[in-house]
Amino acid sequence: MTIIVTGGAGFIGSNFIFHMLKEHPEDRIICLDKLTYAGNLSTLKGVMDLPNFRFVKMDICDREAVYGLFEEEHPDVVVNFAAESHVDRSIANPEIFLETNIIGTAVLMDACRKYGIERYHQVSTDEVYGDLPLDRPDLFFTEKTPLHTSSPYSSSKASADLLVGAYHRTYGLPVTISRCSNNYGPYQFPEKLIPLMIANALADKPLPVYGDGKNVRDWLYVEDHCKAIDLILQHGRAGEVYNIGGHNEMGNIDIVKLICKALGKPESLITYVQDRKGHDRRYAIDPAKIHGELGWLPETKFADGIKKTIEWYLTHKDWWEEIVSGEYQTYYEKMYGGKM
Ligand code: NAD
Ligand code: DAU
Repeated sequence: MTIIVTGGAGFIGSNFIFHMLKEHPEDRIICLDKLTYAGNLSTLKGVMDLPNFRFVKMDICDREAVYGLFEEEHPDVVVNFAAESHVDRSIANPEIFLETNIIGTAVLMDACRKYGIERYHQVSTDEVYGDLPLDRPDLFFTEKTPLHTSSPYSSSKASADLLVGAYHRTYGLPVTISRCSNNYGPYQFPEKLIPLMIANALADKPLPVYGDGKNVRDWLYVEDHCKAIDLILQHGRAGEVYNIGGHNEMGNIDIVKLICKALGKPESLITYVQDRKGHDRRYAIDPAKIHGELGWLPETKFADGIKKTIEWYLTHKDWWEEIVSGEYQTYYEKMYGGKM
């Protein structure tokens, strides 16, 4: 099979490529990535020379280029990870989120319609369901939970999901959608909570916790997400949505304290800052459907996953130190400068 993986130079996409090359060496993987600030070619250096791997620098919104690639490669499957993915950036500048996350998705699906495809898979997020109250631990997001978004990011992802559903119903495109909770693990860009706190703690810099720090996220080790998508590609039913999450809810402040402890840094580095606008309170996935239909269960316990992740950031400083010293500095100053 020939599989186009978009956004494969980013966090989850690159981990997915590593997973697929290892588990399905008979497949050919083509990584299509625009290499925005979040894409990093050095992440892929270990697979770049493999005969069944090809990297193409391309924008998923560039219709002509995308059609050209489909004509050349005749992919059987497309897995769309490419997106603007950071909520804070979407609050500062929504437009690029609408372009990449909505228009880009439409372009990819139009190419799938034009050239034919066995499966188009849309990598979506639990954020499309909005948030849950902290005082109702009995409530979870199921696939039937109505879409109800808070940020420009989640609205753009929900729009894309609706479009994917429409292409299935209207054109019969064989699509699947997965909606996953917060991922953590190797190669996550240091603007996101866990790597940001690790990088700051190691530099003895303040650890900026939004609001009261009690917001809850449902954390999943990235490899478990990749395994779930692989299963959906193999056995998932076209037209279906699958929620992916590990029943691993944690308050932000508890994660930050845990990172301080693991790195031997004082909790006095923790600095409460102005809250994120429209900040979702709690996410919690009910993964019963993917468990029941496809037998998926998360394999990595948070205690092990976070240990492996911290270890990875400690042993791959060259990867993230280059990032935090570049354009990211300007973003960081703009984002946090006035808050601390
Ligand atoms: P990321 O920001 O680390 O990577 C995004 C990648 O997409 C980058 O390599 C970037 O260069 C590429 N890209 C951006 N715009 C592009 C365009 N127009 N054309 C081609 N490539 C483009 O993101 P991530 O955290 O790996 O997330 C991947 C996907 O998973 C996203 O769709 C996101 O919404 C979804 N998701 C993420 C999480 C999470 O916790 N990180 C959880 C659930 C779902
Ligand atoms: O739930 C899935 C989503 O998880 C994905 O769709 C998104 O692409 C991904 O970025 C992530 O979104 P979050 O907004 O939950 O992740 P982030 O790492 O930005 O923030 C996690 C929590 O930590 C959130 O409650 C905000 C808080 N936070 C974050 C940062 C960056 C802080 O308190 N301080 C910070 O500096």
